[in-house]
Amino acid sequence: MKILVTGGTGYIGSHTVVELQQSGYEVVIIDNLSNSYASVVDNIEKISGIRPGFEKIDLTDIGKTANFFNRHNNIVGVIHFAALKAVGESVQEPLLYYRNNLNSLINLLEGMIKAGIPNIVFSSSCTVYGQPDELPVTEQAPIQKAWSPYAHTKQIAEEIIENTTKVENVKGILLRYFNPIGAHESVLIGELPIGVPNNLIPFITQTAIGKREVLSVFGEDYNTPDGTAIRDYIHVVDLAKAHVIAIDRMLNDKSKDKVEMFNLGTGNGFSVLEVINSFEKVTDVKLNYKIVDRRSGDIEKVWANTTYANRELGWKAEKGIDEMMLSAWNWEKALQKKTWP
Ligand code: UD1
Repeated sequence: MKILVTGGTGYIGSHTVVELQQSGYEVVIIDNLSNSYASVVDNIEKISGIRPGFEKIDLTDIGKTANFFNRHNNIVGVIHFAALKAVGESVQEPLLYYRNNLNSLINLLEGMIKAGIPNIVFSSSCTVYGQPDELPVTEQAPIQKAWSPYAHTKQIAEEIIENTTKVENVKGILLRYFNPIGAHESVLIGELPIGVPNNLIPFITQTAIGKREVLSVFGEDYNTPDGTAIRDYIHVVDLAKAHVIAIDRMLNDKSKDKVEMFNLGTGNGFSVLEVINSFEKVTDVKLNYKIVDRRSGDIEKVWANTTYANRELGWKAEKGIDEMMLSAWNWEKALQKKTWP
């Protein structure tokens, strides 16, 4: 059973490849390496003992994408991670985001349809909900006007998949991630931010290890108990496991609809200060941080209602905030010693 994983050398993609292999699937990766390294393939092999197929292809290249499908006629499902994901950058370069995230999806779907591959799992995001009116947010919450071009590409991509499933022999599962953090326990794969990290957890660990001087906490005047913004942080391995279940579900004809969506979070919200406290507690490292103004485009609070995903997928995130912080810290320490990429 061969699965195509696009963006498979990236952060969530690489963890998912390992889980797929450990569940008995054969994997072929497509990645353009714009935000990842070919050496990730070696490290995946070190963990699983199996080398996944790898092709450096940019999915916005329609010719190369079509050619890939001409050469692989035994793929049964696709997990599509490959995309740009920096919210701030998407505001500065909207056309780059629309072109990259949407053209790649269109080329991929066309290739799948021609090759007769009927299953796609899509990397979506809780960002499609914007600031929800009700928390915890369920899959039925209305999709609000997008807060960024990045968020808009996720909304449009969901619709492209939904409309395609109505007329083609394709089923889709849209996985709406909350905030993935942490790394594989082997510390061979994890998040590899290039340059200054945008996201909270790599910024915390880089500050703690001395790569950054001080963490800026964006805003303490939100309508939350301690004034800092609240998110639902989920361990990347818990998240990766849900992808295997989604693929199993489609291959075993368990889908209840041609397109289904699931929230992937823990159901628990933590404020920025709570995250920092957890980090300091489990690592015994004092973090240098200061409160600054809000970051533009940030929402105040969001966490998942996971009832539907838990029941339908028979899946539940297992790791708590302390374990996740320790995992992220172990990864940062391993990065300091690493000899790759
Ligand atoms: C956002 C999107 C998510 C997207 C991700 C990609 C939402 C709700 N989520 O995550 O869909 O996939 O970007 O990058 O829109 N923070 C600080 N200091 C920092 C960094 C972050 O205080 O140096 C705070 C932020 O203000 C936020 C929290 O930490 O409250 C988490 O931020 P971050 O890790 O960047 O993720 P989101 O913005 O939630």
